[in-house]
Amino acid sequence: MLKELARQLFRVLIYWLLQQRSCRFGRRDGLTASQKAANENLPGPFEPLENITAKFISKGLDIKDVVVLSGAHTIGFAQCFTFKNRLFNFKGSGKPDPRLDSSSLTNLQSMCPNKDASNTNLAPLDSPSPYTFDNSYYTSLVSNSGLLESDQALMGDSTAAALVNSYTYMAYLFNSDFAASMVKMGNVGVLTGKNGQIRKKCGPAATPPPMEVTQQAYTAHTGHGSVGPVIAVLAVITILGVIAGMIGRICSGRRIMGHGQYDFEGWVERKCSSCLDGRVDPPLARPADIPVAEPVKEEEPRDEGRRARTK
Ligand code: HEM
Repeated sequence: MLKELARQLFRVLIYWLLQQRSCRFGRRDGLTASQKAANENLPGPFEPLENITAKFISKGLDIKDVVVLSGAHTIGFAQCFTFKNRLFNFKGSGKPDPRLDSSSLTNLQSMCPNKDASNTNLAPLDSPSPYTFDNSYYTSLVSNSGLLESDQALMGDSTAAALVNSYTYMAYLFNSDFAASMVKMGNVGVLTGKNGQIRKKCGPAATPPPMEVTQQAYTAHTGHGSVGPVIAVLAVITILGVIAGMIGRICSGRRIMGHGQYDFEGWVERKCSSCLDGRVDPPLARPADIPVAEPVKEEEPRDEGRRARTK
């Protein structure tokens, strides 16, 4: 049982290791906000894929990042006004978007009736699992059930569509690519030195003097630059491996330390028998051949006279 426990522990550790992806943190906040700049720089749901891709490229990202990061729409909701044009009057045709799957269309039309009052109603971006980070967003795109026009547009480009298809059956690849693209996006437009500020309330800019920060604000906190955590993890793995090996040998009745004079495993078994196999040893019986000490009697004084008489 202990052997199995050690094996499971080892598996969990390896899984945890594989899940790790070091992420930079400590982006400084900007001091200004501009709606105009946001509209110019951020892609909109009605934009053609070429525009969206161009905006990504201008920030050092690429078409793969567009596909991968759009996968963030595996969670969350969108207000009806962001896709309603697809339901009733697509590009002024007076008809729904022909690319939209018919049962999804009916469903969305009931969530977002053709009235202004429905503009702020919410619909899930990934209807099969809006609260779960998974790859079903991509499955929906393949079956023409993408919610936003910009989502479904990915299927109209051969490079993007090929990636979408691969993520439908390789969830682990999506997870890993998503993490990589997030790190990439996190490196866009980083403010350093005295630019920007670090503030406790992220909404409004702090009035000067800003928080006193003496340390390097943008801390590189990535395993790529530091070997410390890797060494620590390797040490833990080694120790666990050794412990698992020792337990394995104890369980199979072999000695741990060869045939030397030190009976280490015997000592462990004696000391830990109750925790290793739930055994509680009875109190040690006193061996029969150990002589029991008799109370010491005072010797009687010798009768010298009698001895002399018997002679
Ligand atoms: C590729 C271009 C993108 C477009 C055109 C786009 C568009 C949109 C739109 C229109 C909404 C609905 C907003 C609302 O109704 O208020 C939305 C929601 C969302 N987007 Fe994007 N987005 C894009 C990329 C991204 C990226 C790169 C991420 C993150 C990595 C992301 C994460 C989200 C999330 C999590 C939501 C749901 C928000 C919520 O439920 O409150 N999107 N997006």
